[in-house]
Amino acid sequence: MKKSKTILVNGKDFPLSPDRTEVLDILIGAYPNQTTFSRSEIKDATDGYLPYWIKSSKYPFKEKEVGGNGVVFNLTQVLGGYNGGYSQGGDTVVPIPIKKEEPVGVAVPATAAPMNMPVAAATSVNLLDEGIKIIPEKMVNYVPFGHYKDVKKIIKSKIFFPVFVTGLSGNGKTLMVEQTCAALKRELYRVNITIETDEDDLMGGHTLINGNICFREGPVIKAMRKGAVLLLDEVDLGSNKLMCMQSVLEGKGYLIKKTGEWVTPKAGFTVLATANTKGQGSEDGKFIGTQIMNEAMLERFAITMMQEYPPIKTEVKILHKEMELTGDVDEEFCKKLVDWADIIRKTYYEGAIDDVVTTRRLVHIVNAFRMFGDKLKSISMCISRFDEETRNSILDLYSKIDAGVDLNAENPFDPNAPIIDDDLSDDENDVPL
Ligand SMILES: Nc1ncnc2c1ncn2[C@@H]1O[C@H](COP(=O)(O)OP(=O)(O)OP(=O)(O)O)[C@@H](O)[C@H]1O
Ligand SMILES: [Mg+2]
Repeated sequence: MKKSKTILVNGKDFPLSPDRTEVLDILIGAYPNQTTFSRSEIKDATDGYLPYWIKSSKYPFKEKEVGGNGVVFNLTQVLGGYNGGYSQGGDTVVPIPIKKEEPVGVAVPATAAPMNMPVAAATSVNLLDEGIKIIPEKMVNYVPFGHYKDVKKIIKSKIFFPVFVTGLSGNGKTLMVEQTCAALKRELYRVNITIETDEDDLMGGHTLINGNICFREGPVIKAMRKGAVLLLDEVDLGSNKLMCMQSVLEGKGYLIKKTGEWVTPKAGFTVLATANTKGQGSEDGKFIGTQIMNEAMLERFAITMMQEYPPIKTEVKILHKEMELTGDVDEEFCKKLVDWADIIRKTYYEGAIDDVVTTRRLVHIVNAFRMFGDKLKSISMCISRFDEETRNSILDLYSKIDAGVDLNAENPFDPNAPIIDDDLSDDENDVPL
């Protein structure tokens, strides 16, 4: 015999047997926007039948009527878990049928509307519900380095083992976690933490869905249910509201206070966090907004990985692959850029310079070069966010590394100069002077 679907109500199994779903369907049909019903409302809809399970003390349905003397039956949790009706729990808000071959993470239009939906159900919003797998895409130009292998071993083991990855900006911390999950075909919930991030953002909260107040689960609960990898990106930007993660960081699960459900993580669930600091704030003020993280929270991370900029050979390979994406590779330029960045970083570590050229910035330079075909212009444009002194000195350094670039012969990009578009001067509509 086929077993009925079971949902959890206050931690207890509630089988959705055919006679129960029949009653739920009747109630949904009769009272589309309602989750709590009076005795007479139920009886009206069911021809005088009040099911035993609604009255049962095993479940918390029976409640005192607000502002009255009677009782009402609160079926919020049941209707939330019942896929044919409302959705306040872990189930899909709008059932989004996913075919296996559909591209991962692409918004899929809803094709079926719950029968009680009072408004148009069609939506192209990807609610990241159960049917959608959010496995990151593999980057053909990704070059593994540093702690990649270790992170891979950790995620592959399916052992709960929270990892804190720290390092300067733009050296591939986030990408490493993303690409490890891509390689292992594991789902990744990347949550960017800010000072505003709170328990609702992480665990979920009540929201209005098609006219109903529903509990929508947050990324942490979703990742736990699916045994996915959770990435708390830029975790050191968060406030002490992140403390709601304590039991999750112990691998123990979480009590959703708003629904009373205890969610236990599925095997494979683990947490990684990235940060520019070690959670002790930013001494030199470079990473404004970073917070001194709660010691007890940091203590829950099993290990800390220090991510450095890639070694010279690896970084050359990264630039090489980036260039390869759309055209010819200028080996020499790649090598010179990396040598240049390496010297700047060493000078930065010695405290003689205020800014550092990140791997991310080198990739930007390579992309600018692919578009403009001019090395000096590309470098100048990409470093113009630095203060004038730093900009001039590192530009000067590049001209010393690359003899083919002459700061005097060519006119480096001046961020304040008016933009003159060469193409426009050739325009046939130009009026001759
Ligand atoms: N191993 C790599 N292979 C290819 N590209 C890389 C690699 N590491 C870094 N990059 C390049 O550097 C960019 C920045 O990487 P990422 O966003 O992961 O840095 P991050 O360390 O998380 O920086 P932040 O601390 O600012 O968040 C990437 O978008 C990519 O272009
Ligand atoms: Mg990052």
